[in-house]
Order: sequence, then structure tokens, then C-alpha cells
Amino acid sequence: MSLLAFLGCCSGNCKQSAMNKIRVPDIVGRKKDKQKLVMLTSYDAITARIVDEAGVDIILIGDSLGNVIQGHDTTLPVRLEDMIYHTRLVSRGAKTAHICADMPFMSYQCSKEQALQNAGRLMKEGLAESVKLETTEQYLETVEYIVSAGIPVMGHIGLCPQSYHAMGGYKIQGRDKKEKNRYIKLAKATESAGAYCIVLEGIPLELAKEITKSISIPTIGIGAGPHCDGQVLVINDLVGLHTGGVPKFVKQYADFRKLMTKAVKSFSSDVVKSRFPGEENSFSWSN
Ligand code: KIV
Repeated sequence: MSLLAFLGCCSGNCKQSAMNKIRVPDIVGRKKDKQKLVMLTSYDAITARIVDEAGVDIILIGDSLGNVIQGHDTTLPVRLEDMIYHTRLVSRGAKTAHICADMPFMSYQCSKEQALQNAGRLMKEGLAESVKLETTEQYLETVEYIVSAGIPVMGHIGLCPQSYHAMGGYKIQGRDKKEKNRYIKLAKATESAGAYCIVLEGIPLELAKEITKSISIPTIGIGAGPHCDGQVLVINDLVGLHTGGVPKFVKQYADFRKLMTKAVKSFSSDVVKSRFPGEENSFSWSN
């Protein structure tokens, strides 16, 4: 069957979504066109659907799900199986946004072969379209190895939450001259290793600006100031669905926790006072 005939046999919907789909070259091209990239995390199908329909460019299934979904203090306990499961849910909900899945702690650290195998599982079983890994110097070869197998890789430098214990907590990185030079060099090396874009997390805005100017792939910032080529936030922080406060770099746009608490209290009170269910919520033999 010719390629054209194959494409022609897709249903209207299929063609539509394939045409609108945001792909890796579109993401890279945004930097040249000076168009900001918008990335948000999602972990389930309904949230992914909402985020996708609102026009977000990239949905990240972040290992932050360890904190905001699983209730851990760090991302370290997140398993590859968890990431595959949540990535599959998100890929069912999103039609247009690019879908990037985080490689969790210990899924790429042991060897480049282990990393490629696990990146492959996120693509095959989770239906991810690219993977992200926390990119310190020792993983540059791993990035190159995964990319050479045809899997796009998003880098992540600066504050790397999987190094929580080594960093002594979540601390802003790249504050002194030595660190600054290290991160500029690392960003360039991550680009040379084949990454299609880089998340810059928890670094001074001046450093993020310099990195953004010195590489040709897009930077996506979180706690890295306004000069990056795009921005990302954890969806729970954005909508106020969390149990504690949010860090300084977050802008909270809604208070879902307050709304949910109000809804749950109203439901409880209606049940206790026999106001729910009413006739309109019930079935009877007559209708
Ligand atoms: O895990 C995550 O959600 C992330 C983003 C905060 C960049 O890595």
C-alpha cells in the first residue's frame, strides 16, 4: 500500500488529530520563531483532556506524581510501572499536545542499556512521544544512546529532585561562578548529545537567560525566571490542589482545594440532613 493510500484510509478524526499534533520539530522550531512554549504536568486522562483542550503545547507526566499523587515527600519512590501507567492514562486524554514522560529514579542511572530499555517501555507501553531525564554530566552518553535509537530526549538541569539527598534538600543551584560555568557547559553538552529541549529548574534568572542564549534548542523554565523559551508548572500547584504551601516560583491561578472542601462539606451535610438524594436524583417505578 502506498503511503498516500495509507494516509487516506485514516478516518477524518485520525487525520485531524495527526495534523494538529505538536511534534518534536515544532517544539524546536518555536525558539527560532520566538514563540513561547507552554508545558504543564498531568497524571490522568481527564486532566490531560482539559489541559490539551486549553491549548498547552507539551504535557509532562512528571515524576512529581510521587509528591502530588502518591503522597511521598520526594520523587525517589516512583517506579517505572507507575510512570508507564500514568503516561498511558494521559495519552488517552490528550490529542494535540506533545506527551513527554519522566524517567524515574533508578530507571536510567545503572547503564545506558538499562536507560534505553526503560525509555522504550515508556514509548511502547505508555505511548509517550519523548522522555525526560535529569541530565548531569555522567548521563550525557545515555542521552546520546537513547536519541540514537530514535527516542527524543528532553534534558533537565539545575535543581534535580532525584538528587534530593545529595543536594541536602530542594536548593537553588548555580549561584556561584564555578557552578554557573558548569551549567552553561552542561547545557551545551546536553544539546550536543541530541536533546531536543532542556528544562531549567531552580536556577537564578540571569543564569537561565545566559543558557537560553547560548544554545539553539528551547529551554523550559521552572523557578528559573522569565527569560526561558517556555515555562512549566506542576498542575496541582497551578490550581491549588495540594496539601501544603507552594514554592515562591509558583503562581497559583485557582483554589481547587477550597472548592473541593466546600463541595464535600455540602454533600456531607445534605446526606446527614436527608436532603440528598432528592426525587430528582432517584429512580422510581413510575419514571
Ligand atoms: O516531575 C516534574 O513534574 C518535573 C517538572 C517540575 C519539570 O520534572
